[in-house]
Amino acid sequence: MSTDIERRVGNLLNSSQSTGATLSSLPSISADLGQKQSAAPIKYVSSRQTDSSKEKLSVALKERQELVQASDSLKEMKSFREKLPAFKMKSEFLKAVQENQVLVVSGETGCGKTTQLPQFLLEEEISCLRGADCNIICTQPRRVSAISVAARISAERGESLGEAVGYQIRLESKRSAETRLLFCTTGVLLRQLVQDPDLTGVSHLLVDEIHERGMNEDFLIIILRDLLPRRPDLRLILMSATINADMFSKYFANAPTMHIPGFTYPVAEHFLEDVLEKTRYSIKSDFDNFEGNSRRRRKQQDSKKDPLTEMFEDIDVDTNYKNYSLGVRKSLEAWSGSQIDLGLVEATIEYICRNEAGGAILVFLTGWDEISKLLDKLKGNNLVGDPSKFLILPLHGSMPTVNQCEIFERPPPNKRKIVLATNIAESSITIDDVVYVIDWGKAKETSYDALNKLACLLPSWISKASAHQRRGRAGRVQPGVCYRLYPKLIHDAMPQYQLAEILRTPLQELCLHIKSLQLGTVGSFLEKALQPPDPLAVKNAIELLKTIGALDEQEELTPLGQHLCNIPLDPNIGKMLLMGSIFQCLNPALTIAASLAYRNPFVLPINRKEEADAAKQFFAGDSCSDHIALLKAFEGWKEAKRSGNEKQFCWDNFLSPATLRLIDNMRMQFLNLLSDIGFVDKSRGANVYNQYSHDLEMVCAILCAGLYPNVVQCKRRGKRTAFYTKEVGKVDIHPASVNAGIYLFPLPYMVYSEKVKTTSIYIKDSTNISDYALLLFGGNLVPSKSGEGIDMLGGYLHFSASKSVIELIRKLRGELDKLLNRK
Ligand code: CDP
Ligand code: MG
Repeated sequence: MSTDIERRVGNLLNSSQSTGATLSSLPSISADLGQKQSAAPIKYVSSRQTDSSKEKLSVALKERQELVQASDSLKEMKSFREKLPAFKMKSEFLKAVQENQVLVVSGETGCGKTTQLPQFLLEEEISCLRGADCNIICTQPRRVSAISVAARISAERGESLGEAVGYQIRLESKRSAETRLLFCTTGVLLRQLVQDPDLTGVSHLLVDEIHERGMNEDFLIIILRDLLPRRPDLRLILMSATINADMFSKYFANAPTMHIPGFTYPVAEHFLEDVLEKTRYSIKSDFDNFEGNSRRRRKQQDSKKDPLTEMFEDIDVDTNYKNYSLGVRKSLEAWSGSQIDLGLVEATIEYICRNEAGGAILVFLTGWDEISKLLDKLKGNNLVGDPSKFLILPLHGSMPTVNQCEIFERPPPNKRKIVLATNIAESSITIDDVVYVIDWGKAKETSYDALNKLACLLPSWISKASAHQRRGRAGRVQPGVCYRLYPKLIHDAMPQYQLAEILRTPLQELCLHIKSLQLGTVGSFLEKALQPPDPLAVKNAIELLKTIGALDEQEELTPLGQHLCNIPLDPNIGKMLLMGSIFQCLNPALTIAASLAYRNPFVLPINRKEEADAAKQFFAGDSCSDHIALLKAFEGWKEAKRSGNEKQFCWDNFLSPATLRLIDNMRMQFLNLLSDIGFVDKSRGANVYNQYSHDLEMVCAILCAGLYPNVVQCKRRGKRTAFYTKEVGKVDIHPASVNAGIYLFPLPYMVYSEKVKTTSIYIKDSTNISDYALLLFGGNLVPSKSGEGIDMLGGYLHFSASKSVIELIRKLRGELDKLLNRK
């Protein structure tokens, strides 16, 4: 905004103030700006205002909007906006919203749905003098997009972020009393619904990216469908990138749909066959062993294998496959693992940089690990590593928000931008100047095996819809090229759409949320979903919540459950945090919880596995615990960071500095959460909560409390130990665990973070614990039927004890329950 305009707007606002209007709302913008607000409710001023002050506010908003829009400084922005496909649909859109309570809008990514449609509503409301009454909320599945879109619209309106347009994400917000259009994550809105089930005062709600079928979005639309009759004035707009709008329309009683025809330049497509020829890259794989490998793989009984992997395993007998070149066959072989061949990605980037005209390159990878590995590789590359010619930027959902803005900026003409992204760049974030897309065809996806209560997060093939989206990212400003690093054969076999998240994740967090919103019984509520989840998955979730004490026998929320609802994390991890604060073991609980909620900081180097294992063992000491190893590694890193030795420390110990920094960041967020719900009083100082932080037995007990009922029995079999779980019987320790090489364990039980099924069922990240830890900190103790001891896990574990000991333990547990359930 030019200074002249600024002055005039300032005058305008001041004059409206001096007319005596109680505009607490309008001018006090700065008060809220930039402040970190934790879990502040989404509230608006309008409900507290008198009619006349509202009127004055509406007038002031309108005058300001007109003034700013007429200014020269926005000319360029305006003409950019007018070129977007959404602009041509403006009046049709506004009319449809006026006439219908629900509208489903679809349109190619980049056509202007997210930045324009909410803005059209805002402009319209303000110019019709309804500014004071309008409260528009637009949900985003990810934090990054909530911020970047709010910033973009503010710029398009010639305002600062947090004035008319703001954002709110978990533990961070930028908005003011004046804010009329708020971008928030879907999770923030869901939590808001606890306090305000009718969304009082919200005039328009836009739910973005519904095609992704994220759990939160699928959950939200069930609630909204029930809410609509109670709020006939509320307008609901669902926005989707791909054209499966009909399904959503049907769900909302055949709500009208609107399609924004997009314009993108043609994008040429090369499959692996061409790429290998162009780059002359030779895929590294154990090809000579191929026949043997695939036979062996076929023998593995992996019930949860994705259909493409299965198909691929039969390819070697397929005549089509025989026709493929050696390179393609090698690459198919390489795929049977989930690792991306980063050498091929690097070669493709190099090829483009040498042979193709300028334009940004967007690379789709599956996660932070790959992004940081490729970053390192490229920095060492003779050509691309030259920072005067290339700008290499990572883009990841959990990246610190400050780093995200330069992604959108155009580099100087002699510099090429290379963005290494996860599938966040698929539809939520549009980088305009991308001309080349490199796509490996995979994304990290969780899956859930309800029968065996197994959850895993593994890279799997994307859908055709996603592949199409990714390709489209190259044609925004000029004709583009998409390099698909997989054969056409794989592409043809990809499923049309991705499976909804609600159908492939454990449901305990969702069930807890359903209870806290008082939406009735979980089962009958979830039957109303667009695609209802497996009843067994629902049953498992309820059972688990009862086991950890979040629900009582009647499936009602306990006060502990209520606390866990306020911690937007897996309930087990939430409970670990609460126990950590109660037992003055806070630092370890924060570190371990953050790592469990995010990821393990230990990296697995391909050729130096033994050294890496030794480093991890060193941290574990004789604790027989991956969690302790992690804790010690984190503490070591903190220390090394203080003494300026971070890089060397991480290198020597096979740790990812990026992950450690994120864990550190999350620890702070968790601490704020604990303080918000009253389990930590920051004014008492950190020491009070860390009396036992160096007592490893106490840390293991807290781990037991958090990880229960993930328990295995360690049984001696000759010179070795065998491990058994209640659900699936015998399991193995994951080869990456510090416990993998140990034959006999000092203590009889193991708690673990996760069970995964690959070649066999493995428990990942385990900690050896005593029976006392289990009895005092585990869950659901029941006196044995015979009266001579205690049963746990529905009788799977039995402890003999005298009546008086049982009585004592029950008393202790009763006191602990009181602490956890305090109000
Ligand atoms: O939501 P949809 O994918 O339909 O498009 P959008 O996010 O509204 O983006 C519309 C246009 O605004 C795109 O062409 C982007 O290039 C541009 N945009 C931008 O320059 N900076 C942003 N932070 C967001 C969008
Ligand atoms: Mg969008």
